[in-house]
Amino acid sequence: MASSTVWQCLVALSLFSSAAYGYGYGDGNGNDNGYGDGNGNSYGYGNGQLDPKFYEKSCPALGFIVRVSMIKAVLTERRMGASLLRLFFHDCFVQGCDGSILLDDVPATNFTGEKTAFPNVNSVRGFEVIDDIKRNVEYVCPGVVSCADILALAARGGTVLLGGPSWAVPLGRRDSTTASLDGGNSDLPGPTLNLTELIQSFANKSLSPRDLTALSGAHTIGFSQCVFFRDHIYNDTNIDPAFAADLRRSCPAPAGSGDTNLTPLDAQTRFVFDNAYYPNLVARRALLHSDQELFNGAAQDELVRQYSADSALFFADFVAAMIKMGNITPLTGSAGEIRRNCRVVNSS
Ligand SMILES: *[C@@H]1O[C@H](CO)[C@@H](O)[C@H](O)[C@H]1NC(C)=O
Ligand SMILES: *[C@@H]1O[C@H](CO)[C@@H](O)[C@H](O)[C@H]1NC(C)=O
Ligand SMILES: *[C@@H]1O[C@H](CO)[C@@H](O)[C@H](O)[C@H]1NC(C)=O
Ligand SMILES: *[C@@H]1O[C@H](CO)[C@@H](O)[C@H](O)[C@H]1NC(C)=O
Repeated sequence: MASSTVWQCLVALSLFSSAAYGYGYGDGNGNDNGYGDGNGNSYGYGNGQLDPKFYEKSCPALGFIVRVSMIKAVLTERRMGASLLRLFFHDCFVQGCDGSILLDDVPATNFTGEKTAFPNVNSVRGFEVIDDIKRNVEYVCPGVVSCADILALAARGGTVLLGGPSWAVPLGRRDSTTASLDGGNSDLPGPTLNLTELIQSFANKSLSPRDLTALSGAHTIGFSQCVFFRDHIYNDTNIDPAFAADLRRSCPAPAGSGDTNLTPLDAQTRFVFDNAYYPNLVARRALLHSDQELFNGAAQDELVRQYSADSALFFADFVAAMIKMGNITPLTGSAGEIRRNCRVVNSS
């Protein structure tokens, strides 16, 4: 297959050039899964059985393949960086980081996935990019790399390519053979939640209030639909009136009109992964009610101020929280499977 040959050549070239010149894209830990931190920072790998070097021998080209595919995807559409970060979050919060969100509904076998859960339907996206990466990985290392790990690497790639921090992604997750529509409906925090509910939802996944506030900083990139912030801009009082007035022009009040109109979550730098989300909160210019809850006269205000003033602190906490989130009940060892196609379980 022509495509397969091209990939093998690219991969061989990459391995050769990094070996020959010591110039690679690796993360400095001897594995090629990363983009490199570049600051000599070590953020730690979290607790569990996952390991950034998991595919070091079985698929050494993995990092390169994901990187090339992600560069292509983000060049095609910068928003995709945010979409894949969100897709990973929505995977991890439902049954753990097991690729369950990638499974399609299969009417013929009555298999129901998570894609039609209320927080996912008509809003999660990026499945074609995961398919593309998986196809390229299968050319080079067939049957080795899980879809759950590909999603974890894609989420990191989106963050890095838009200017955010990098980190060594712990790997070794396996793919589920099940999905949970009910879990999708119950466990994903929605945009109307208050701070108490947000903290509960994250605590339910062993994530702290600090993790909540750091992970919410992912809203430095990405967009939201009018239907998710209409109430906030028309009815909430903790919002800058000029900001609300401006947003109302593209998000009409009547339910059902303009529901899918998109607005950037970070009005300042929509395509740059920076800490600008936090000064927005301090200025009461959060797009979502749930975002503004982090700065609403309660316990997270101080941390929001700190992240506003200190981008390095935000990046370090974000990375630590991403690693913790990536550790939510993964399938490891011989549990689950390595899906051949991320959209269907192998038996079907
Ligand atoms: C799918 O579910 C329907 C309704 O519950 C049932 O009638 C049908 O036999 C099921 N099909 C399969 C393949 O299990
Ligand atoms: C948060 O929402 C819950 C459920 O609606 C409510 O019981 C609780 O009083 C709210 N907490 C605050 C601090 O508003
Ligand atoms: C916590 O997790 C359980 C089990 O997944 C779920 O039933 C419940 O709705 C979750 N609660 C919150 C607040 O997310
Ligand atoms: C604002 O709140 C009122 C009263 O709860 C409600 O009827 C109305 O639909 C809300 N408006 C919007 C745009 O959400």
